[in-house]
Amino acid sequence: MHEWEPANASEQELDGWLHILNEVFAHDIPDEPTWGNQLLREYLYLAAPGERRIHWLAYAQEPVGDAEPAGWHASGENADTVCGTASLLLPADSGTCVVDVLVPPRFQRRGIGRALLTTAAWRAHGEGRQTLSAEVVSGTAAVPFYEACGFERVVVEVRYLLRLDRVDWSRVRRAVAQVVSGYRIEYFQGGPPADLLPAYAEAKSMLRYLTAGEHTVDEATVAAEAKRLSASLDTLHRRGLRPHVVLAIHNPTGQVAGLTELVVPAQRPARGDEYDTLVLPRHRGYGLALAMKSRMLLGLQQTEPQLVDIQTWQNGEYEPQAQVNAELGYVRDREWYEYETTTSRLISRLGAVS
Ligand SMILES: CC(C)(COP(=O)(O)OP(=O)(O)OC[C@H]1O[C@@H](n2cnc3c(N)ncnc32)[C@H](O)[C@@H]1OP(=O)(O)O)[C@@H](O)C(=O)NCCC(=O)NCCS
Repeated sequence: MHEWEPANASEQELDGWLHILNEVFAHDIPDEPTWGNQLLREYLYLAAPGERRIHWLAYAQEPVGDAEPAGWHASGENADTVCGTASLLLPADSGTCVVDVLVPPRFQRRGIGRALLTTAAWRAHGEGRQTLSAEVVSGTAAVPFYEACGFERVVVEVRYLLRLDRVDWSRVRRAVAQVVSGYRIEYFQGGPPADLLPAYAEAKSMLRYLTAGEHTVDEATVAAEAKRLSASLDTLHRRGLRPHVVLAIHNPTGQVAGLTELVVPAQRPARGDEYDTLVLPRHRGYGLALAMKSRMLLGLQQTEPQLVDIQTWQNGEYEPQAQVNAELGYVRDREWYEYETTTSRLISRLGAVS
């Protein structure tokens, strides 16, 4: 096993990573679109300002014919096949980090996952991170794996998928045409233009503060948020994650009343990832979420004609978001979980030696 740097890795290493991902997907979530290698290097090594990613690869000898795979090799010497991957995402200014371990079916239950997780746990410890989390798809081996390693389930979300060939386009056009007076809905391929960034940033930071129980944001907070958003959009572009944003603008004040964000990865351009859809509290109840999501669909029809479907996640069945998604034709898929543990607990559970 060794740490690798996608920024200057060989094509062979990149192919090894991609192969593992597609092998695991094909087994665990067979309808998932296959990943390609467009901007894969950039996807793996670029991060938002202050954020870092650390990657590991584990190697084994390729089995011959029907033979069982030979043991995997800690050193990677004389081993030709990537048999597992791990990554650690270290967000800026945070005590936590996100771990991701993948071992394809033909190499599972040989301790490779545990060894990769042990390495990642010690690195998290070395980086001063107190907690680790992992995103886990229900019904996969990752559930018993992380539970066996002492992780606890802290968030349950349901993935929803919208197939674009099942969309009622006349309804979508109607929702866009009938926007309540006093608002306009605008679609931006690549993200909002510079002159709208402060209003966009203000809406995003107000929402963040609202969840913390505050109701206003000062200029310095908005300026810092605008800078962060601009950097984050730039990182998305460079990683091949093509952003699309729709804003609901309140005409009398010019305030951004709501937003919806979606990304189409160059690595699997058939599926869009819907990030956030938010409406500020005092603009709720006017149908803005439906109008914004509908405008997004019309925009994508023009700019991303290869899209087959869109995925989004909900953590509650009865929230207004669920209603809007149901109206547009999103269909419930499977549950996704967030698991968490403390670094010290994980290390003692794994009985790891540094
Ligand atoms: C989860 C995963 C990393 C585990 O890798 P692995 O190399 O098989 O794990 P290990 O052999 O180190 O297993 C460690 C322990 O985890 C538990 N475990 C792992 N897989 C398990 C399974 N399928 N059933 C029950 N327990 C399991 C066991 O306690 C195991 O110890 P044991 O074999 O001594 O009983 C691997 O199965 C994987 O990548 N699966 C894909 C998961 C996924 O995320 N799919 C969605 C698409 S990305």
